[in-house]
Amino acid sequence: SMQVHEKRLDILVDVASIKKNKKTIGFVPTMGALHRGHLALVEKALKENDYVIVSIFVNPTQFNNDADLVNYPRTLDSDIELLSGLSKNIIVFAPTPKEIYGDKMLSTKYNFNGLEHEMEGKFRAGHFDGVGTVLKHFFTIVNPDKAYFGEKDFQQLQIVKKLVEIEKMTVQIIGCPIYREENGLALSSRNKRLNTKQLEASPFIYSVLQQVKKDFGTKSAFTLNNWVLGQFKNHDELKLEYFEIAKVSDLKSIKRKQKGTKYRAFIAVFAGEIRLIDNIALN
Ligand code: PAJ
Repeated sequence: SMQVHEKRLDILVDVASIKKNKKTIGFVPTMGALHRGHLALVEKALKENDYVIVSIFVNPTQFNNDADLVNYPRTLDSDIELLSGLSKNIIVFAPTPKEIYGDKMLSTKYNFNGLEHEMEGKFRAGHFDGVGTVLKHFFTIVNPDKAYFGEKDFQQLQIVKKLVEIEKMTVQIIGCPIYREENGLALSSRNKRLNTKQLEASPFIYSVLQQVKKDFGTKSAFTLNNWVLGQFKNHDELKLEYFEIAKVSDLKSIKRKQKGTKYRAFIAVFAGEIRLIDNIALN
């Protein structure tokens, strides 16, 4: 049956034996409460590697809000069940915070070339330092050939690519498309906390992004920004935190479009206490 390790030493032993046999390791870091979006990453990793290590770890240092950390869904038994149904070549690493951080739960201060100050970085102080720190630890322990990240967290994906550069690590970072419900809502562990009304309202987020994409060729970024603000003004269930049209290269928001530049639209919305993010490629 599938290996599930809590101890760093046990995963190190498995990694050493895989490397000794000249087999490859794909790595999928997660915070658990697994859904089909996570599983799509795992399936891609299984196709491209001999073994896949999935970490399940709700990383305390990346939460800037205690309530969010406490309320984050934890469903380890069903997570293990889901993964063991996929393949026997999956190894789960589900450590305790102490196993990763020791007695001092500290994060490194990173300079990700300004990527960390945009969007999520403005609203979640210290968040990307926590993400960078935990991934540095995981990459060191797991020593993967490839690691898989969803475009759902597009800013995180760009920052992880930068992290690997900064830390001079050899792991190849693979971005994976956003997995959505039939109704367009991007899958997220936090969706499990939405009530019926919020669940019904939240596909609106993606429909707004799709309309922005449709109009991107003919309307200015300024006009689109105002249109989106209007869409959420006085909305019963959804409160807009930010909407930005940004360059893919540096994630800086724009007022005016330039030729030959790739853009994406990014959005963060509150449904009650629950924070939802999404994004879409515009060109
Ligand atoms: P978590 O939110 O559990 O997400 C784990 C991975 O799954 C991330 O790469 C995320 O982008 C991807 N993912 C989540 N929902 C997705 C969806 N609907 N479609 C495609 N990919 C999706 O992101 C984290 O955990 C943490 O920050 C972590 C990287 C594990 C560091 O602690």
